[in-house]
Amino acid sequence: MTRPNLQIACDHKDLPSALADIKSIGEIVDILEVGTILLLQEGKQPVECFRALYPEKTIVADPKCADAGSTVAKNCKEAGANWMTCICSATIPTMKAAAKEIDEIQVELYGDWTYVQAQQWLDAGISQVIYHQSRDALLAGETWGEKDLKKVQKLVDMGFRVSITGGLNIDTLKLFEGVDVYTFITGRGITQTESPKQAALDFKNEIKRIWG
Ligand code: 5RP
Repeated sequence: MTRPNLQIACDHKDLPSALADIKSIGEIVDILEVGTILLLQEGKQPVECFRALYPEKTIVADPKCADAGSTVAKNCKEAGANWMTCICSATIPTMKAAAKEIDEIQVELYGDWTYVQAQQWLDAGISQVIYHQSRDALLAGETWGEKDLKKVQKLVDMGFRVSITGGLNIDTLKLFEGVDVYTFITGRGITQTESPKQAALDFKNEIKRIWG
């Protein structure tokens, strides 16, 4: 089993605050993400800045694209992103059009997706999904648990690289022990702490402790 990556999700309200954090933790994490909130606030500029700061890192743009896959992916790629997210309710033609323009598409799992759809994504050549607890569901009292493990394991067994995200903290990670998680995506669990650098190191160390 490979050790999962750590991805920082930057959902800052503006570019300066995102840059302040990314400069202190960019070298510690494996993957950098310009989150939906920051993209909506600042457009492509954070992607361009992250790329200028970290020429060799994998950068994800998270527009949760639902349509116009080709155009959105081309724009993300030109700004410097390697990967881009599509919402799971996007059509296969949207996902395929996006996949032609950027290195990889990740399907964001929200709401009522099915394993039949998941097989269609695989058949379309898309092998990354993001298993998500939405911010709003968490606020409404949702928690991580056994039900999530089963779905994640099934997606792994189907052949997906599965990223996990939504309100993660250090203690959530051990729930996934023994599961071949591809990446843990963390936003506020790092950025909204007293020391984002220390929090990123703590996440990394916990991943190493559990997955070796
Ligand atoms: C929200 C997202 C977030 O970027 C991701 O889930 C990380 O968020 P956090 O760790 O702050 O809950 O995609 O749509």
